[in-house]
Amino acid sequence: MRSAVEYCHHLLRERLLPGDLAVDATAGNGHDTLFLAQLIGPEGKVFAFDVQAQAITATGQLLQRRGVPEHCYTLIQDSHTTLAERLPAAAPGKLAAVIFNLGYLPGGDKTIITCARTTLPAVRTALALLRPGGLLLLVLYPGHAGGAEEAQVLRGFASGLLPRQWQVTEYSTLNARNASPSVLVIEKAATGFRPGQESQRCQLQ
Ligand SMILES: C[S@@+](CC[C@H](N)C(=O)[O-])C[C@H]1O[C@@H](n2cnc3c(N)ncnc32)[C@H](O)[C@@H]1O
Repeated sequence: MRSAVEYCHHLLRERLLPGDLAVDATAGNGHDTLFLAQLIGPEGKVFAFDVQAQAITATGQLLQRRGVPEHCYTLIQDSHTTLAERLPAAAPGKLAAVIFNLGYLPGGDKTIITCARTTLPAVRTALALLRPGGLLLLVLYPGHAGGAEEAQVLRGFASGLLPRQWQVTEYSTLNARNASPSVLVIEKAATGFRPGQESQRCQLQ
């Protein structure tokens, strides 16, 4: 069975194409940023956010070690709540994928964690920026303090999205002994919303 992160990578591998734009909303040690950069190649670009300098440094070093050209990524030491301001003006409606691998930095300060108060507005923004057919992935970790509450808020939000415009699924282990990670997958409908069709524009809850 695939782990939660492996499942995300499986979906991203199926969906992303060379030249795409993607966001890693929680760069951490850079593994997801690297994976995205490798999928979308030298014509694409990844924007990676993290509030911690340690994470941004680790991500930059990993990308350099693995030979990812600098023009293929932008590392942003800031909260993912600044997503809309930090992306180029042309990005809205063009993002192929956004991943939020939540929780704390492995090997880092376990008191610095993502929380629903900031994750939820960032998810709303990210959904609005996705292209038709784009994918938003949330890796939920209910096992650490605050993680279950964050997962509950995000699940509640995602399950209320309009089904004509969003497909929402969850990948989780039902028979795990302890609270195990799961993945919320939110996919934007593939048909674009044409200008003038206001009633069909994405309505985020
Ligand atoms: C589980 S780690 C991410 C793992 C990472 N994607 C990887 O591949 O190694 C979660 C990260 O979220 C970061 N974080 C916490 N709050 C954040 C926020 N508001 N905006 C951006 N990053 C945040 C933490 O600093 C931490 O590095």
